[in-house]
Amino acid sequence: MTTTGTAVLQARELSKNFSVRGRFALRRSTLRAVQDVNLNLTAGSVTAVVGESGSGKSTLARMLARLVTPTSGEVLLNGAPVTRGAADRAYRREVQLVLQDPFSSLNPVHSIRYHLSRPLRIHGFAGDADAENKAIKELLARVSLTPPERYIDAYPHELSGGQRQRVAIARALAVRPEVLIADEPVSMLDVSIRLGILNLLADLRDEEGLAILYVTHDIASARYLADTIVVMYAGQIVESAPARQVTDSPAHPYTQLLLSAAPDPDRVDGTAIAVTGAPPSLVRPPTGCRFHPRCPHVMDICRTTAPQPRPIGTDADHTASCWLYHDESTIASGKAE
Ligand SMILES: Nc1ncnc2c1ncn2[C@@H]1O[C@H](COP(=O)(O)OP(=O)(O)OP(=O)(O)O)[C@@H](O)[C@H]1O
Ligand code: SF4
Ligand SMILES: [Mg+2]
Repeated sequence: MTTTGTAVLQARELSKNFSVRGRFALRRSTLRAVQDVNLNLTAGSVTAVVGESGSGKSTLARMLARLVTPTSGEVLLNGAPVTRGAADRAYRREVQLVLQDPFSSLNPVHSIRYHLSRPLRIHGFAGDADAENKAIKELLARVSLTPPERYIDAYPHELSGGQRQRVAIARALAVRPEVLIADEPVSMLDVSIRLGILNLLADLRDEEGLAILYVTHDIASARYLADTIVVMYAGQIVESAPARQVTDSPAHPYTQLLLSAAPDPDRVDGTAIAVTGAPPSLVRPPTGCRFHPRCPHVMDICRTTAPQPRPIGTDADHTASCWLYHDESTIASGKAE
């Protein structure tokens, strides 16, 4: 286990462009899904990435899981840059991805035993038949599917959505990863069982020291689970801070809007973020601050020049990219510092 607080996985200036063709367009265009993202995932800590649909959360998660190749920037695992030719299997042992849909992520023709034995065997953790059986039961117990005998030879269709998601998490744990990336892991589950999965992720953080990236469109569940919240808007991080600080004293106008759309901080029902105005085009993003067409505080400089991240107050861990937090002379000069 990595010591709590150590940066295990880092994104440095990570960007991803997709080449897309509009419905009636003859030429392809560049869609800037993620731009210049910096992020640290630390051992024993949950970082939530929050933002509305299309803000680039899954693309970022998939780059960190090495399912999408970054256009630029780099990923560092335990301080070492991950090169493109690096062994995938070794990387996947350290960094595991849990997806939104526990129905399609498990193969209906295979038993739970099969799903959990495969990663154990591929990564050499299986041993003989008895050892493998014991390892599978331990995995089931770790995700609270107890008694394990009830689940080990079941098939996915015999389990509830929440139980399947627990199997998907157990499968990820089978290879003893340091990092778990969970992309909307509760949004397809019944409201009544979401809390159980979030509590399981919290236990894995607290008891096993995992570094967890929790991707969600629901800022209330991020507040419930996460230690740090990172807010994404149109492919960029606009605010990052300890979770309480983001939800109690949001600095960026977009974060403020997200929170005003999610009035009950204890709600973990995953209600979609309903912010007024439409998200911008990522093919032709707005100039300057990408949020300026929707921002109630927009100033002239916002329309022309992109703000850089600034520390908010005295807390070095709280940053926001907004001209409201730059000094007046900088704003008057109309130039970034
Ligand atoms: N393979 C792809 N090819 C082209 N465009 C893509 C591809 N994957 C994602 N995009 C685009 O990149 C942008 C970001 O998508 P992404 O799935 O990362 O957003 P998201 O924040 O996860 O959204 P949601 O909350 O709906 O899951 C969107 O405009 C999406 O259409
Ligand atoms: S930089 Fe300007 S437009 Fe962007 S969020 Fe801040 S005040 Fe609003
Ligand atoms: Mg997504």
